[in-house]
Amino acid sequence: MTPLDTELYPDAASRHGKTSEAYQIARKALRDEWISGLTGAVLAAFIWFHLLFESSILFGRSVYDRLALLLEHPLPLAHITLIVVGIVFFVHFIWASRKIPGKLRERKKMLELGVSIKQAAGRWEQDTKSDISLRKHFETSLWIWQVRTGMAVLAAGAFHLILITWNVFTDMGIVGQNPGISADIAVSRVASGLWILYAVLMAAVVFHMAIGVYRLLVKWFADTWFVRKYARVFYHFLLWFFLILGTATTIGLAGPWEGILV
Ligand code: HEM
Repeated sequence: MTPLDTELYPDAASRHGKTSEAYQIARKALRDEWISGLTGAVLAAFIWFHLLFESSILFGRSVYDRLALLLEHPLPLAHITLIVVGIVFFVHFIWASRKIPGKLRERKKMLELGVSIKQAAGRWEQDTKSDISLRKHFETSLWIWQVRTGMAVLAAGAFHLILITWNVFTDMGIVGQNPGISADIAVSRVASGLWILYAVLMAAVVFHMAIGVYRLLVKWFADTWFVRKYARVFYHFLLWFFLILGTATTIGLAGPWEGILV
């Protein structure tokens, strides 16, 4: 504690010195924000490339296979990416989930808050064009959906990561199958019923990623030259672009739209 030594408070200590408890708590909170934010940003960048590469199935199995080969030879990029993404996914889950309400009572409160925000406008008679009209709280709703989709991504994403790691590193116990991703294996897997899981994972991850990028931009850049309005435009672009691309890709991998663009 840094002594203030003023006439009024001769023995008072500053609450803001570098050794103060408040400073230490703030420093730890900032470090936690950095870890969850940076790992989230890395995962978001990964998801952009992943969904773009997967969409190559819309150009047919040969284009998909050529791309898969490029990612595995001569450099084992797919193998390295899988290990790195696996670690980053785990670290992000540990750090970001500190914000997930842990107790049943807190989760109930969050549910109530979600419902309350949804019904807020209906509780008031108001001129919706007025500047001071009560609006649905966009930011809070986004945060609630980020927590909900994060939990869905954790369950479905962990399964997907384990399955793909098994596929990339081994023959999966199938005689005659080479380790690695191929269009034949991917399509047969998705078409045989996994499309349900992939549709849920794709929608959850795209929502989570778009909200996450929006929140990062607002948290670290808004109120500089980069105003909130630009962040909202980018959020809507990310959400709709990847939702449409991801839906088309899932239908492509499930069969009906395979090679539809050739
Ligand atoms: C590929 C998958 C994922 C991507 C692309 C991703 C992306 C992001 C991004 C960019 C953020 C914003 C960070 C911030 O606001 O500082 C974020 C936050 C968050 N993520 Fe993820 N994430 C993924 C997986 C997960 C998983 C598995 C969980 C599991 C619980 C999760 C839970 C959360 C939560 C609760 C937050 C909010 C943290 C806060 O309010 O600051 N995410 N994510």
